[in-house]
Amino acid sequence: MEQVKQAVRMNNVHYAIRGPLLDAAQKLEKEGRKIYKLNIGNTGAFDFEIDPRIREYVIQNIGKAGGYSDSSGIVEARTAIKAYHEKKGIRNISIDDIYIGNGVSELIAVVMQALLNPGDEVLIPSPDYPLWTASVNLCEGNAVHYMCDEESDWNPDLKDIEKKITARTKAIVIINPNNPTGSVYSKEIIQGIVDIARRHGLIIFSDEIYDRILYDGDIHYSPAAMADDILIFTFNGLSKVHRACGIRAGWMVISGDKSRYSGYLDGIKTLTSMRLCSNVPAQYAIKPALEKDDSIFALTAEGGRLREQRDIIHQMLNDIPGVSCKKARGSLYVFPKFDVERFNIKNDNKFVLDFLNAKNVLMVSGTGFNWPAPDHCRIVLLPPKDDLKEAMVRLKDFLATYRQA
Ligand SMILES: Cc1ncc(COP(=O)(O)O)c(C=O)c1O
Repeated sequence: MEQVKQAVRMNNVHYAIRGPLLDAAQKLEKEGRKIYKLNIGNTGAFDFEIDPRIREYVIQNIGKAGGYSDSSGIVEARTAIKAYHEKKGIRNISIDDIYIGNGVSELIAVVMQALLNPGDEVLIPSPDYPLWTASVNLCEGNAVHYMCDEESDWNPDLKDIEKKITARTKAIVIINPNNPTGSVYSKEIIQGIVDIARRHGLIIFSDEIYDRILYDGDIHYSPAAMADDILIFTFNGLSKVHRACGIRAGWMVISGDKSRYSGYLDGIKTLTSMRLCSNVPAQYAIKPALEKDDSIFALTAEGGRLREQRDIIHQMLNDIPGVSCKKARGSLYVFPKFDVERFNIKNDNKFVLDFLNAKNVLMVSGTGFNWPAPDHCRIVLLPPKDDLKEAMVRLKDFLATYRQA
């Protein structure tokens, strides 16, 4: 009998963070090697704990969590989400504008499925968090990448965004603070994107899952707080700021002018109803997290664990000849650049794999983040500082002689 192939619409769907490089690392682990994992933003894997008040509240309420909830989520969680985003300046929202999902990931898929016809275009940053591109491709849409400029602290190139808009463009994605670059956008940049969306009648999808992971006193600006005349989806959740990624609780807030979009919003309602509801025990984590847990600030402040790890990575990477790296001002990642001529790197997957095999350290190649050249990798800031230091010593050692074959 014939082999069963994956559907054609899967041909361009990739998620490198959990792809073949991770498979290779897991194989080495099974052989007994200790692998330093600088590849994934999983707080739970690096001894970060959930605030006990969140855990206890979920346990107290587990008896109420045995049934399905409304498809959009339990009222107390949506009320807490509304209050949180109102404090950030988003006006004119009701709890009916809020949908809770099994993480932001699920909702990214929903908003694309309800929106895109084959060939419709969505502007996505390059580099990106690759779920955005994958979700557009899965809907047979066209992910059009706008460039973020390393020389300008990885800010989005507004001219490039505007140049790439066509009659098929439906939306612009913003990831701020950014995964994978660690950049944090100024008010002017966000305003610039809002203005472009307004001029061209585009939806904004604003991924703000790292909104409170800021190291240098930056302020996080939400486009939805700057405009209520365009449709804006603001995504956030408990995975990063509250170090609760295994809980799987994320949400989106829909704000702005909905007058042109009733059909689209009906589609979102249908899709969220089809998956019945998100995990109900996890929804009970939202209210205590948003109302009580500010523990992220101790981690990002001077002397805090995340801030120290950010500083160690920054210094040690920039000490390696042939490597340069912008300092992360937010999020949990850096995206260092490698001198491809010096190391003769033609293929970044091979580079990452060679390093893994030689030194037992796993990074993710930059092309996995829809970056067009083989000259970057992503490194997570989460591992404890001794592990990060050891990994950086190994990288320096490896690069001292590496020339890609
Ligand atoms: C920018 C960005 N958006 C969304 C997600 C997914 O978040 P969630 O755990 O809520 O599905 C991640 C996870 O790493 C992320 O980095």
